[in-house]
Amino acid sequence: MTPIAVLISGTGRLLQELIDRSQAGELPVKIALVISSSPSAYGLERAAQAGIPTAVVSTRTEGSEARRDEKICLLLERCGAQAVVLAGYLAYFRYPQQLTNRVLNIHPALLPGFGGKGLWGHHVHEAVLKSGVKVSGCTVHLVDEHYDHGPIVLQRTCPVLDDDTPDTLAARVFQEERLALPQAVRLLVEKRLVVEGRRVKQLPAQ
Ligand code: GRF
Repeated sequence: MTPIAVLISGTGRLLQELIDRSQAGELPVKIALVISSSPSAYGLERAAQAGIPTAVVSTRTEGSEARRDEKICLLLERCGAQAVVLAGYLAYFRYPQQLTNRVLNIHPALLPGFGGKGLWGHHVHEAVLKSGVKVSGCTVHLVDEHYDHGPIVLQRTCPVLDDDTPDTLAARVFQEERLALPQAVRLLVEKRLVVEGRRVKQLPAQ
């Protein structure tokens, strides 16, 4: 069971997906720590109910982004996390060298479209609807030095319907995210991801 840490900022629905699959023995991970950027994130409650240690770390608690990220790295080291999952984490995470290609983020659109600063949550789906595209979905990617930019691990798609609102589209995208994130976490902890520049290839299951 690979120890991982999950970073959140909000309701933690994706965190709950990882907790459920881990507890059901479907995902070979132990969630060793949940770190939230917000003290009021419901995801903290979800972690506590699952008996998972939690911490709240933000620029407000630490005083600066640099000290925030240092504190996160310290907590990651202490809990022995071998991989980190950003699941609805709204800040940028400056990861330590030893976690290169071991930090995953999920974005509720098909990157590189509809990503980057300011495009999070419903803002993403508003931009998708405004653009007139007929397909949306989600992207799980490795985190690099830029926001929503790292090499793409996997994507799942869903239709954009004529009568969609940001909320109905978000709900349809979320049904794909629930499948994409655990699958990407599995690939990462099973060491089945091969990063070649901007390409991430998958090794077959052993
Ligand atoms: C997801 O839509 C994800 O793509 C985005 O945050 C949302 C998950 O929020 N990064 P949560 O898991 O309900 O907190």
